[in-house]
Amino acid sequence: MADYVAHGVLLPRSKSDICDNLMKFIVIELDDVVVACGALEIFNENLCEIRSLVVAENQKRHGFGRILVDKLIEKAISLGLKRIMALTYVPSFFHNAGFRTVPKEIFPEKVWGVCFKCCKFNDCDEIAVLKELS
Ligand SMILES: CC(C)(COP(=O)(O)OP(=O)(O)OC[C@H]1O[C@@H](n2cnc3c(N)ncnc32)[C@H](O)[C@@H]1OP(=O)(O)O)[C@@H](O)C(=O)NCCC(=O)NCCS
Repeated sequence: MADYVAHGVLLPRSKSDICDNLMKFIVIELDDVVVACGALEIFNENLCEIRSLVVAENQKRHGFGRILVDKLIEKAISLGLKRIMALTYVPSFFHNAGFRTVPKEIFPEKVWGVCFKCCKFNDCDEIAVLKELS
């Protein structure tokens, strides 16, 4: 994740935040090396979010991102959650997986629960995408 944070593609998360939320992550390993990860954040039964989705630069376009998104969707469905969203700079990747672009304002749980603490709150250029699960 650190490489993408450095390039401004991903918002920073502290080590303690990641440790606190470790059980929300799934990873893909190749030869004992983690090459991709993603996390499922649950707000309530109506909404969850794909967070911290990254594939190592040298492993992109091998289908790993899609595998992670599909697994996180599967997990959300198994928990009975109704909608899954993401904030992203690559909406077309998510469109490919059945998401559509929506206004961020339809997610008060995210905007007022998480985003307002973010340094980019007043200047957020990420795009919101949503997939209905039911
Ligand atoms: C976005 C990201 C997770 C995609 O992972 P990936 O493993 O390279 O993607 P996949 O190989 O699984 O691609 C799945 C599909 O999406 C398409 N795709 C992949 N990256 C894309 C992009 N940047 N823009 C548009 N489409 C993309 C692929 O062509 C493929 O399409 P297909 O099913 O028609 O063949 C990866 O590029 C990444 O880590 N980016 C930097 C971090 C980031 O932006 N994460 C998203 C934060 S929410």
